[in-house]
Amino acid sequence: MRRDRALRVLLVLAVALAIVLYLRGTSTTDELGIDASTEYDATFDAPKPWNRPEHAFLPNGLVQTNPDAPHPIYELIANAEGAWRDKLARASTTFTQAVTEYRRRYKRSPPKGFDLWWDYVREHAVQLPDEYDQLHDDLEPFWGIEPKDLLATRSELEGKADSYTIGKTATTPVAVVNTSFAPGKYDQLIHNSKGILDLLRDIEDDLPPFRAVFSPHDGPNRMSDYFLEQAARQAAAEKRYLRWSDLPKIDPAGWKSACPPGSPSHNLSVGEGFEPPPPTTEKTFIFDHNLAMNPCLHPRHFWYNSLLLNHNRGPTPQHQLLPEFAQCSTHMHHNIRIPTPYGWIDDIPRNDDPPWDEKPDERVLWRGSNTGTHHTAKSRWRTAQRPHLMQLTNDIRGMQTILSPNKGRAEPVGQPITVRKARLNPGIFDVAFAGDPMMCDPETCTLLQKIFPWRKRQSVKEAGEYRYVIDVDGNGWSGRFKRLITSNSLVFKATIFPEWWLDRVQPWVHYVPVQLDLSDLHDVVVFFRGDASGLGAHEDLARRIAEAGRTWSKRFWRREDLIAYFYRLILEYARLMSEDRDAMTYKHFS
Ligand SMILES: *[C@@H]1O[C@H](CO)[C@@H](O)[C@H](O)[C@H]1NC(C)=O
Ligand SMILES: *[C@@H]1O[C@H](CO)[C@@H](O)[C@H](O)[C@H]1NC(C)=O
Repeated sequence: MRRDRALRVLLVLAVALAIVLYLRGTSTTDELGIDASTEYDATFDAPKPWNRPEHAFLPNGLVQTNPDAPHPIYELIANAEGAWRDKLARASTTFTQAVTEYRRRYKRSPPKGFDLWWDYVREHAVQLPDEYDQLHDDLEPFWGIEPKDLLATRSELEGKADSYTIGKTATTPVAVVNTSFAPGKYDQLIHNSKGILDLLRDIEDDLPPFRAVFSPHDGPNRMSDYFLEQAARQAAAEKRYLRWSDLPKIDPAGWKSACPPGSPSHNLSVGEGFEPPPPTTEKTFIFDHNLAMNPCLHPRHFWYNSLLLNHNRGPTPQHQLLPEFAQCSTHMHHNIRIPTPYGWIDDIPRNDDPPWDEKPDERVLWRGSNTGTHHTAKSRWRTAQRPHLMQLTNDIRGMQTILSPNKGRAEPVGQPITVRKARLNPGIFDVAFAGDPMMCDPETCTLLQKIFPWRKRQSVKEAGEYRYVIDVDGNGWSGRFKRLITSNSLVFKATIFPEWWLDRVQPWVHYVPVQLDLSDLHDVVVFFRGDASGLGAHEDLARRIAEAGRTWSKRFWRREDLIAYFYRLILEYARLMSEDRDAMTYKHFS
């Protein structure tokens, strides 16, 4: 009898196991847009024996390669896929869950109107409704400021050039309600407000009255003083309000003022001279893209981005926190990020964008103008992101060190190998400026013509022929990323701007993050597409990321996703700018 029971239990277990295996084997395309049957080897999720060589994951968002461990990109991809699955799996599915999760994260209740926002999210299938940490972080310091003072500051800001103000009242619809532009600039600077109004039009009946000042420019303009912002954050955490007069005096030391004491950039003479501090000799890759964008943690950023280069040692920080919306921001600014409609496209005509396997060109593409910085004999343009990209990818003199892409996922990657740039670069990159030099004095224009390749502009169809593209910043953030990630090509992305979608994307699943100085560019390119003759390629992984990127773009960066972000942002902002914040708070179960 007892044996019978044991057999029965075993049988039940075997059937259950078979069902589980069957379900796993038959699930076709999951949320990653990835075929589960090609699922990645989970070796790296397994507990590690104590003596297994490991890479060093550093607090600055970079992983430092240990030559005795396998190529770090295997682990980076496996970790990212796991993190993305976890994020999708824990998303709230009911309003009550969403409110509970909101309170857990932000230690307060959601704003009034959160229930209507939730309805919008459900109705339009907006994904990952809990993942708005960056939006909250943008607003958090303002929670520590007396609303009366914020209102007075906003009113002053309306009169400061350049800006436009968008708002609605209890009786009038969303509109541009004030502008302040340098003379003759109206038509140019009002332009982007049209796309914003167009987004807000869809939800205006459900928005509370508000009045918000926007910067019309490409970059952020409100630099923070670290101690001043910390004082406001501290007050916010303690649920106190500070008056402007309570804030500490700023330290007018340029960029350094925005960085915490003890951070690498606080200690260095950042933004001076033509030569950046030397890079590390070890091979490093990005594992946390947001941390890797932070200039306070990465002193070399001050040489490799034009926004930072142009200001040399940096501007004087603001004496207050100015609640000004902008199309992008950095870790050193307190502009409030918006989901910018600039550059948004629904899709690329399918005729112009063949599937991955039908794209004939296996080089990495970049075309664009030399925007970002003014080019003169005296200005520091040589290391700016676009000239630097030209130089690095077209150089045929000297040697390049790379990690061998030939090593399998269970063998040591070994010490970097050295290859001639002349054999590598022309075979793997198609990177050139398009059109003619701009933003340069006549002599420097001639120099730029001479030292860099210039080709004709490409059509979207021509760009569609390439399997790999690189994306770098322009004057501000990169407005072309939406097109690139929709294009069935694998995108390598280098930037200092954490954009509005960053909480709801997964680097190494949807695109490949690259360091601002491009010190890892050759390694990531060679890992995916192989060396100049294609040896060591991991095309299956490349195709997978390219396709997952496109799937993500079509599901997480729709017009409705921009609207959902803006909707939530305006609800939060309206509460923040209210003299009675409690009255603007959602009262759950009341
Ligand atoms: C625009 O803002 C300025 C500065 O606060 C203010 O003086 C002016 O009255 C505002 N104009 C409108 C139309 O609200
Ligand atoms: C900052 O500089 C001081 C003196 O130059 C040095 O003692 C200290 O270790 C540095 N701190 C960091 C975080 O680099």
